Amino acid sequence: MKKLLSGMRPTGSLHLGHLVGALDNWVKLQKKFECFFMIADWHAFMSEYENPKTLEKNSIEILADWVACGIDPNKSTIFVQSHVREHLDLSMVLGCITQLPLLERNPTYKEQLRELKGRNLMTYGFLGYPVLQTADILVYKASVVPVGIDQQAHLELAREIVRKFNNLYGKVFPEPETVLTEAPKLLGLDNRKMSKSFGNFIALSDNPAVVKNKVMQMITDPKKIHLNDPGHPKVCNVCSYYKVFAPDKEVEVQEVCKSGKRGCIKCKQELTGVLTEKIDPIRKKREKLLNSKDELLNILKNGNKKAKDVASETMKEVRKKVGVFHDL
Ligand code: TRP
Ligand code: SF4
Repeated sequence: MKKLLSGMRPTGSLHLGHLVGALDNWVKLQKKFECFFMIADWHAFMSEYENPKTLEKNSIEILADWVACGIDPNKSTIFVQSHVREHLDLSMVLGCITQLPLLERNPTYKEQLRELKGRNLMTYGFLGYPVLQTADILVYKASVVPVGIDQQAHLELAREIVRKFNNLYGKVFPEPETVLTEAPKLLGLDNRKMSKSFGNFIALSDNPAVVKNKVMQMITDPKKIHLNDPGHPKVCNVCSYYKVFAPDKEVEVQEVCKSGKRGCIKCKQELTGVLTEKIDPIRKKREKLLNSKDELLNILKNGNKKAKDVASETMKEVRKKVGVFHDL
């Protein structure tokens, strides 16, 4: 079985975007690959270093979210990046062979510098973000890396670094292939990009009352003011949520909207039902998990150990190839 690695930074609540954009897909991939799912806490630290107090708490929460969504610790290796030290060993080696201009040109880096305002990210560590990300993948010799489109540039960089390594020291690593997640485009409640910093999302931890409240705030067709006004579902965000979460209802929703037989309130009430049905089991499961913290910690301890076994084998090989002691 080919190896797969992916990860997320523990920066706060997971929301519907993570579910349809990544987790639903990860759950399926567990059947096809030997999967490693990593809590990228060092990557979070790179942008949170001025105020990192919640990293541990967020890591536990993200773990509960993952397991509640169906990531199965008996099938997949779930681990914490900062506890498998080999990532840093390999990152050091890769850092030595990575040309600076490659990192300075990285479009994601420039974008993050612009987007994450109020923080000082002109650091050595943050520039090296993709180097560590490459080490994350290579230390397991993972050949499959499912990510969203926002990570594509990092994967390109990873491939470039792999080629450089293999050229210099002999073929050790496979070139990882990106498996772009076909994420349905899900906008935030206010029609902007769904994002933690905009606070415009429905979290996996939201209870039915909160979900209802948030759905009621969603922006619909501005021309549909009265119940009987014919609406334009194509421009309505509520309709696009139906498309993702209840595709079998989409056509009907469009028709009753256009004919003016139904108002937005009713339409939203039903969407609330659809969303609640999807996320309420997840919310309950994650709450239960968070109440048995020992169980969660055990998942990580086991996962860390399994990850370390693989990673340390790779590092032994790398040490040999680059000419430092490998068996002292
Ligand atoms: N940078 C990724 C993100 O922000 C997280 C990540 C870290 C990752 N290391 C990785 C993803 C390795 C895939 C492979 O989403
Ligand atoms: Fe949107 Fe539904 Fe209102 Fe039509 S009826 S505008 S689809 S919320």
